[in-house]
Amino acid sequence: MNTATRTITLRSPDDCHLHLRDADMLKRVVNHSAREFARAVVMPNLKTPVTTVGLARDYRKRIQAAVDAHYSFDPLMTLYLTDNTQAKDITEAAACDWLVGAKLYPAGATTNSSSGVTSVVGLMPILEKMAETGMVLQVHGEVTDPHIDIFDREAVFIEQVLKPIVHELPELRIVLEHITTQHGVEFVQSSGDNIAGTLTPQHLLFNRNEIFRGGIRPHNYCLPVLKRETHRAALAKAATSGSPKFFLGTDSAPHTQDAKETACGCAGCYSAHAAMPMYTRLFEQYEALDKLEQFSSIAGARFYGLPLNQGRITLAKENWRVPDSYPVSSGKTLIPLFAGEQMDWKVA
Ligand code: NCD
Ligand code: ZN
Repeated sequence: MNTATRTITLRSPDDCHLHLRDADMLKRVVNHSAREFARAVVMPNLKTPVTTVGLARDYRKRIQAAVDAHYSFDPLMTLYLTDNTQAKDITEAAACDWLVGAKLYPAGATTNSSSGVTSVVGLMPILEKMAETGMVLQVHGEVTDPHIDIFDREAVFIEQVLKPIVHELPELRIVLEHITTQHGVEFVQSSGDNIAGTLTPQHLLFNRNEIFRGGIRPHNYCLPVLKRETHRAALAKAATSGSPKFFLGTDSAPHTQDAKETACGCAGCYSAHAAMPMYTRLFEQYEALDKLEQFSSIAGARFYGLPLNQGRITLAKENWRVPDSYPVSSGKTLIPLFAGEQMDWKVA
C-alpha cells in the first residue's frame, strides 16, 4: 500500500466463480473479467449445460476467442453434474489441467439448473470417483424444497445434504460456493483443509435490505438471496481474516435488463465491471487491505493447486461513476451492480 498516492498493487487475482454465458453476452462481459483477473473458474450452467469434457473444451475455445488480444486470461472450466454423469466423464475430466472441478446444482435451485442433480444419493458413485481422482466438487448449497423458507435454504442444505456427503467421503475436496450465512462460514471453518468457500462482492457489501431499499431492486436479487446483517458481518469477517479457506469468487451472473425487470425476474448480479474495486472497498472498510491479496490472489490458487499468478494489478483510490448500463446486442442492455453509483477504487 502506497499511502502517499493511495494505490495498492497486488499479485493478479483469480475469480474462482464466474458466469460468462455465451455468444453476444460472452463477448460483452469477458473482457471486464480479463481486465482484472488472470484466471477464472467458469461455471457450466449454459442453456445447454456443459456436461462433458468435449463441451467444456469447445466452450473454453469460444471464451478464449472472445478475449481481447492484449489480455492474458486463462479460463478454467467446470463440468455440470446431472443424474446421468458417468464415472468415465470424471476420469476424463480429472486428466485435463484446464478443467478444475464439477459443479453440483440441486435441480431447480437457480438459473439454468433444471438439468441438475435430483438425488445426491444417486450421485454418490460419481462423488466417490471425484474423491478418488482429487477433483474438486463445487456446490450450490441450497435445498430446493419449496416448504423451506428461502432464507434458511443454505443452512438446511449444509445440515441435510453437505454434512452427510462429508461424513461419507471425508477426503472429497469441496468448495461451498457463494457462502451467504454464518452457518456456511462456521461449516467451512470447522471442516478440514479440503473444504473451502467463495465469497461474492454483493454478499460481503449488502444485506437483504438492499433488495428493498426504497422499492424493489431486481438487480440486487441473486441466489442464494442476500441475508440479514449478522450474516453479512460474519462473511466480511471471514473474508478479511487472512484464512486460506475463504477466497474470491464473484458469481458475476449477467442477465439482460428485460430478464431482470419483469414479473418473474432472473436471479444473478453482474459485478465483473468493477469486482476488484468492490472487494477493495470492503477490505478498506475493515482496515484489512493487507489481507486482500491473500483473499484475491493466493488462497484460491493454493486450494486449486495452481501456480500463483506472476502479473500484478494496481488499484487507485479514485472516484468514478459506474455506468447506468452496458449495451449487449440488438437493443438489449445489461445493468451492473452499483449502476450509476460512485466507486471509490479504480483499476489503474
Ligand atoms: C447464477 C446465474 O445466473 O447463472 N445466478 C445467481 O443468482 N447467482 C446461478 C448461480 O450461481 O446460482
Ligand atoms: Zn454462480
